[in-house]
Amino acid sequence: MDAIEEQDRIAQALRARLRERFHTQNKNPLAMVHTFGCQQNVADGEKLKGILAQMGFSFTDSPEQADLILFNTCAIRENAETKVFGNIGNLKQLKAVKPALLIGICGCMTEQPHVVEKLKKSYSYVGFVFGSHSAYRLPSLIQSCLDEGKRVFRVAPDDGCVAEGIPALREEGVKAWLPIMYGCDNFCSYCVVPYVRGRERSRRPERILEEFKELVQAGYKDITLLGQNVNSYGKGLEEPVDFSALLERLNAVPGDFRIRFMTSHPKDCSHRLIDTIAKCEKVCNHIHLPVQSGSSRILREMNRHYDRESYLELVRYAREKIPDVTLTSDIIVGFPGETYEEFRETLSLLEEVKYISLYTFIFSPRLGTRAASLPDPVSGEEKGRWFRELLALQDEIGLEQMRPYIGQTVRVLAEDWGKAGEGLLQGRTESNLIVEFPGPPSLAGQFVRVKVESVKKWALLGNLA
Ligand code: SAH
Ligand code: SF4
Ligand code: F3S
Repeated sequence: MDAIEEQDRIAQALRARLRERFHTQNKNPLAMVHTFGCQQNVADGEKLKGILAQMGFSFTDSPEQADLILFNTCAIRENAETKVFGNIGNLKQLKAVKPALLIGICGCMTEQPHVVEKLKKSYSYVGFVFGSHSAYRLPSLIQSCLDEGKRVFRVAPDDGCVAEGIPALREEGVKAWLPIMYGCDNFCSYCVVPYVRGRERSRRPERILEEFKELVQAGYKDITLLGQNVNSYGKGLEEPVDFSALLERLNAVPGDFRIRFMTSHPKDCSHRLIDTIAKCEKVCNHIHLPVQSGSSRILREMNRHYDRESYLELVRYAREKIPDVTLTSDIIVGFPGETYEEFRETLSLLEEVKYISLYTFIFSPRLGTRAASLPDPVSGEEKGRWFRELLALQDEIGLEQMRPYIGQTVRVLAEDWGKAGEGLLQGRTESNLIVEFPGPPSLAGQFVRVKVESVKKWALLGNLA
């Protein structure tokens, strides 16, 4: 893409200028990129870092040390936005004592006009704001900031394109995120994502395969394919290819690694896909299959295009074809108009499906979505009680799902989650269960076998076998 090459040139040209601005003749200027929200955003954050590295930046986690601070934001629920505004507010003092500091805001929140207005009016020290569709233009945005000394706002409309060729600067380690598609066309009635991320578009399979092979070559061993609805991958591409076909191609790449994916929308999760997961040995036997609610009426209101029965049928099929499959899910409590009886249908669904863990949310109205204008008579307090009831039930179910592993030996990808210095490692099984075990830090990044001795909430505990 020519536009990307043009940005590369601008990035190179900015290197000397940025050094001069930040008076760091002998070392690189420092950037802090703070990402909120989902893995898709984390993957975007890695690209933003890749672009900043081209401009000569090194990275820091400390706002005080940073010459440039970039918040990559999330708009999914109100508390996500409140957190971001809190973080931006905290920078006012810093900018006052360090006027050269560049502050930028990007990501999902900036695709909402009311947020851009608020940033313009009340956060004058924010220098540049851009949406995800303009992310590849970061070098020219920073250039304009420097040239004109003015604030720059670039929230371009979705042009339906996929910007290829931006280098991602990934976290060191063995786990990698690999976006296979962007945007979402589903318009679930509660969700802001289709408004802030634009229309669904898939990357070409050969580009994905190429990046995937590079990751395997570089030693990544747990690669997660990302999309808001990976099961509809391939729509609109010239070449006829669907998610099952993509999985088969990636599974055929030689090497010792695991393939994960998220998120699977139940409406597009076909038997063919489940058969493919069953037969591809590198594709993990874990499916994140967000149900949102156990009530068919609420699912209709949510515009999810499946009902309780068809979801349960899908789960039965998955369990039949992949006997050791584990499932996880997202649940929304207190959708507008949900009654206690309907909420109890979600509880009974949990008892039937037996997820190993859940991501649980209380409904949060999002401006512009259909659900935000529905009558919502149940109080926040009442929803809080339902929420706690849900968590208590899932805690029991989670433990019940983990106990049978006691005495078994499982294969995990060992990782250092911050306690390796104390001799404690963690890892995940193929089925996405967390295992804690004592071991030397040198094992981090390797597949090891662990004998499970006991369980606690969220994790299996064991010893190297
Ligand atoms: N594309 C994924 C979900 C991405 S958002 C899918 O369809 O499964 C992650 C989760 O946030 C959703 O599954 C949903 O449970 C939750 N969520 C989204 N909008 C929400 C809202 N307005 N209030 C509460 N939870 C919400
Ligand atoms: Fe939101 Fe639904 Fe799209 Fe998921 S599928 S991102 S919940 S609109
Ligand atoms: Fe949040 Fe945007 Fe992801 S709204 S959940 S960061 S797609």
